[in-house]
Amino acid sequence: MRELVNTAQSKAWNGDEGRHWSDHHDRWNAVNEGFNEPLLAAAGIGPEDRVLDVGCGAGQTTRLAARTAARGSVLGLDLSGPMLDRARRVAAQENLDNIGFEQGDAQVHPLPEASFDVAVSRFGIMFFADPVAAFGNVARALRPGGRLAFVCMADPARSEWSAVYGRVSAALPAGASPSVASPSGDSDGPGMFSLADPLVVREVLTKAGFDDVRTEAVDALGNFGRDVDDAAEHLLGSGPGRHLVEVQEAAAGGDAEQRVRAALRSTLAPYERETGVRLRTGAWLVTAVRR
Ligand SMILES: C[S@@+](CC[C@H](N)C(=O)[O-])C[C@H]1O[C@@H](n2cnc3c(N)ncnc32)[C@H](O)[C@@H]1O
Repeated sequence: MRELVNTAQSKAWNGDEGRHWSDHHDRWNAVNEGFNEPLLAAAGIGPEDRVLDVGCGAGQTTRLAARTAARGSVLGLDLSGPMLDRARRVAAQENLDNIGFEQGDAQVHPLPEASFDVAVSRFGIMFFADPVAAFGNVARALRPGGRLAFVCMADPARSEWSAVYGRVSAALPAGASPSVASPSGDSDGPGMFSLADPLVVREVLTKAGFDDVRTEAVDALGNFGRDVDDAAEHLLGSGPGRHLVEVQEAAAGGDAEQRVRAALRSTLAPYERETGVRLRTGAWLVTAVRR
């Protein structure tokens, strides 16, 4: 990585969180793939477009974009080595030759100027310490008139998985509600709800060089596991789950992991269906045009 300013995020996404997302990329895709259709429809990618996928992770949206931009090209940019390893492997298995990946911090990565027609992101743009700088960097990489389309987390009250963590936390001895917002568990850092207020989104994007900012509510029902045990295990291994265990260990010791697992299982039970444990995520679909 040539330059890095979001160091806490880099640590998280090159550490436990990045490994969890890479090892369980299929599961995270099952959680979030309901957003692919609205995101790609809003991006309006053409067959010859040059596309940038910001915070592409293991690259599902990058691959979908590459299929649509069949005579164009797609670059996936991400901080995370483990997730990019996964992204490269899957893209090679699928014989996509108009796709590339670079490891870099979107806030400062030296992207070539005015060289993309469209920038997209599925939840990869929420963790910037300086969002105006980051979106400014993306804006410079787009040609004038180039399009931006992304999904970001809406208020946690619109997401059932957030309520699950809240209930689990309240049911446990420590009782406190830990930060579930940041993959590093750092409640002061830029968390996943940093763009939850559409007024903030508009202000950030306008300052960064975008016009015609539009925000639309989108929801998706994600599959978190085949049954309660499987979903509890998945959430336990993710950043907020590990953070809950740490809070429990510090507050009440003993077998904190076992306590969190048991509380997750009982809290998830009402969401179990024949097709799996289904929880709703509420997001904003944001579009804008580079000035
Ligand atoms: C919630 S994951 C989403 C990954 C992927 N877009 C998906 O939908 O599966 C957030 C991603 O943003 C990346 N990310 C966070 N901050 C970043 C930054 N400053 N520059 C580039 N990528 C970043 C993380 O490494 C991670 O892959």
